[in-house]
Amino acid sequence: MSTETSPIATIASLSAHEGQTVTLRGWLYNLRASGKLLFPIFRDGTGTIQGIVPKAAVSEDVFETLKNLTLESSLVVTGKVRADSRAPSGFEIDVEHVEVLQRVPDETPFPITLKEHGVDFLMEHRHLWLRTPRQSAILRVRATIMRAAAEYFDTNGFTRTDPPILTPNACEGTSELFEMDYFDDDKAYLTQSGQLYIEATALALGKVYSFGPTFRAEKSKTRRHLTEFWMIEPEVAFLELDGLLLLAEGLLTHIVTMVLAQHRADLKVIGRDVPKLEAVVAPGAEGSLAFPRLSYDEAHAMLVDAFNNGLIETEHKDGDDFGSPDETYISSQFDKPVIIHRYPSAIKAFYMQPDPADPARALCVDVLAPEGYGEIIGGSQRIHDYDLLKLRIEQAELPLAPFQWYLDLRKYGSVPHSGFGMGIERVVAWICGLDHVRETIPFARTLNRIYP
Ligand code: 4AD
Ligand code: MG
Repeated sequence: MSTETSPIATIASLSAHEGQTVTLRGWLYNLRASGKLLFPIFRDGTGTIQGIVPKAAVSEDVFETLKNLTLESSLVVTGKVRADSRAPSGFEIDVEHVEVLQRVPDETPFPITLKEHGVDFLMEHRHLWLRTPRQSAILRVRATIMRAAAEYFDTNGFTRTDPPILTPNACEGTSELFEMDYFDDDKAYLTQSGQLYIEATALALGKVYSFGPTFRAEKSKTRRHLTEFWMIEPEVAFLELDGLLLLAEGLLTHIVTMVLAQHRADLKVIGRDVPKLEAVVAPGAEGSLAFPRLSYDEAHAMLVDAFNNGLIETEHKDGDDFGSPDETYISSQFDKPVIIHRYPSAIKAFYMQPDPADPARALCVDVLAPEGYGEIIGGSQRIHDYDLLKLRIEQAELPLAPFQWYLDLRKYGSVPHSGFGMGIERVVAWICGLDHVRETIPFARTLNRIYP
């Protein structure tokens, strides 16, 4: 059958074409030759499939073209789909014809081979590294995580409201701001979080969320920090801390459920320990789906214990924030995400509502992913009293003028309200089981990399 008459198919949809001759459009991923037999592996963005090419089955021309074809050359393949239970995709293709669209020159072979490469080399070639099955699988899972997150809010009565990216003031602390000139004498900053703006839209629409890129000029070179990352942030009028914890739990449960339902094959390619993810959405000891909850004080006590038993190296000081090793230890004690609430106000953002039971604590929450992946969600109930908020802005030594509009929200029908931010890349790192956030986003921006 010729290329013109056989249906164009994708590797992921071959089960609908078993026994048929189809046309696949993609790239040569790998090639093995054994005498008069070629075993090319094709990829097309939806998966990979092995082809079988006996010399006798194709024209001399097709056999020679394929035999000498360079990896990652683009091509159109025609062949018959055959079920094979041993094949990762469940199918193989008996190649009938190959048309090369662009042959990668012999002098400049595809730089990424099946052998091990260093991370710097791979990041320098990120535009090409993305083509490898594991990286592609991660990006597919990322897309589902983003879709599931948005879907959770869209189907629960939230309205998406997009905050600006160029802002006149800081949200999460002034030391981590990317600053730029904004015409004449003004300065603008890339947003660190849409929160302040969606507090305004929440008081207009009730339940809102924002979803977009956020920026932190963090000088930290850790496996959890990017300078540009995607955050999804719900903000809800009349919601207090307890309700916020339930919202975080519901969101994460939905995301993990969706990934498990749709990405078993990708998780396998990535090498994820899937039962660990299943545990997140499985009923716990008493049949409860709830994530464990710890107050800051309980988490601190747990760390002191761990130090006394030689399980962690540095002693956690009461009142200090948790460092990465602390978070890693706490979260490794549970097989579900851990919700930590009521941190000392002194180490948290200026806008957080004090706990009426102990005003030195904030009505705030951090959610730590299991298996030591650290913080994936941070949020709080917001101060709704005008005078208290103004005092906190002053105490934080922030200028009042750019916050006047934010204070207005406490002057015109203020109500208790709460929200949080979830970093997409942190969630992708956890769900895919990746060591570093640099593989969680197509083109990572970090302290020392802005190429490609
Ligand atoms: O805890 P953060 O700083 O909270 C806020 O920005 C609040 N204004 C959000 C809100 O209440 N609406 O950031 C929220 C989340 C973190 O838990 C983490 O997942 C992610 O954003 N995050 C980062 N991800 C990658 N690289 C970084 N440098 C990140 N900083 C924060
Ligand atoms: Mg935080």
